[in-house]
Amino acid sequence: MKKFYIETYGCQMNVYDSQLVKSILTSNHWEETDNYKEADLILVNTCAVREHAETRVRGRLGLFKAVKKQNPQIKVGLLGCMGQRLKERLLEEEPVLDFVMGPDTYKRLPQTLEKVYSGEKIADVKLDKNENYDEIYPRRDDPYKVSAYVTISRGCDNMCAFCIVPFTRGRERSKKPDLILKEVEQAIEMGYKEVNLLGQNVDKYQYEDVDFARLLEMVARLDSNMRVRFLTSYPQHMKNSVLEVMAKYENIARNIHLPVQSGSNRILELMRRGYTREWYLDRIKAIREIVPDCAIGTDIIAGFCTETEQDHQQTIDLMEQVQFDYAFMFKYSERPNTYAARNLPDDVPEEVKIRRLNEIIDLQNKHSYQSNKKDVGKTFRVLVENTSRRSEKQLLGRNSQGKVIIFEGDKKLIGQYVDVEVYDFTQATLLGKMKN
Ligand code: SAH
Ligand code: F3S
Repeated sequence: MKKFYIETYGCQMNVYDSQLVKSILTSNHWEETDNYKEADLILVNTCAVREHAETRVRGRLGLFKAVKKQNPQIKVGLLGCMGQRLKERLLEEEPVLDFVMGPDTYKRLPQTLEKVYSGEKIADVKLDKNENYDEIYPRRDDPYKVSAYVTISRGCDNMCAFCIVPFTRGRERSKKPDLILKEVEQAIEMGYKEVNLLGQNVDKYQYEDVDFARLLEMVARLDSNMRVRFLTSYPQHMKNSVLEVMAKYENIARNIHLPVQSGSNRILELMRRGYTREWYLDRIKAIREIVPDCAIGTDIIAGFCTETEQDHQQTIDLMEQVQFDYAFMFKYSERPNTYAARNLPDDVPEEVKIRRLNEIIDLQNKHSYQSNKKDVGKTFRVLVENTSRRSEKQLLGRNSQGKVIIFEGDKKLIGQYVDVEVYDFTQATLLGKMKN
């Protein structure tokens, strides 16, 4: 049997897609290896969301070029968003590549490989608004069976001005609820302890009369011992009905990721986000009222087109008001062909972007510290994910809020739920002691 090696960059959606690819290949006489040196086929599943993500992949391709020089039989394929964005151009720019595929063409991988092995160079990048990979089940291979990703919708129709995703992942489409439930049930049968429902904008999930609130409830009811997470919520579309379902089911994780991007109404409008700062703060209020123990996280972009010091201060001020439990923070990176690239000037100087980003990060560090401080003395149900990086005797797990807790315990507990009382903390983690 021939062996393939796959490397994955970017978001959870890509991790899931790589599992689909593994499933397609292993049912077509391929075997996976985690060592590229013994692979016949090297695959790189890529991200295009920021320029940096693409630079990293190009660097990696340099290494695979050297590998291929030693063994010219090897084939190298690039998958995912960067492939969709650059298409055949990549075959010219990166001669190491034998083929390029976008996120909607993986079903054709066996046929594509046949052509590739007969000497063709191929870019198969047609987006398909109907492709949901129905009846293809991801290959889940976590030895500890902790968390299973389940994609509920693909693509995105929001067209935020800065974002490449609608171009690389195509039109928004929701997967059939029956198939989602079946996939979750499979994960439960395999012994997975948590599912994570994925979509670029889960709040727009809609299949016939099933909206996201209904779907979430159906998934939560499958097994009250299984924790249900979801990602990502969208401020304009997040409805109270979703929050009410969360409040009703204890096994739905107390965590909402609600990207704000900016605290300035002027910038939000230029970003075409479809909500105002006031609307966003109202959504935060609703979360705090309906699901009081819910952690709230966000994404923030520093230095978007025309952002002034005043706009930036509005972001700082919004952060102060909300006090996010965690945040992912980026400096604006112009992506070719997006609305912003075509219509707005990328005019905030690099050093100003960096300075603003650092101010945002410093403030978030303070808020993360405060958020963790509040947890001292509390006991949480923790799903053990692994040993901690520092010591084999220490375990690392997550509570319902998604916070990382480190505590002493036996490796045998990995993949199980335990109760942990928090006695100390840092800005990044909680430190606890196992109960009973
Ligand atoms: N719908 C997805 C968005 C994926 S992109 C979600 O909400 O998770 C993830 C984050 O990357 C965005 O929320 C945004 O903060 C950031 N991002 C997207 N495009 C960017 C760009 N051009 N420059 C900097 N950050 C960007
Ligand atoms: Fe991107 Fe906005 Fe969709 S950030 S993925 S266009 S919700």
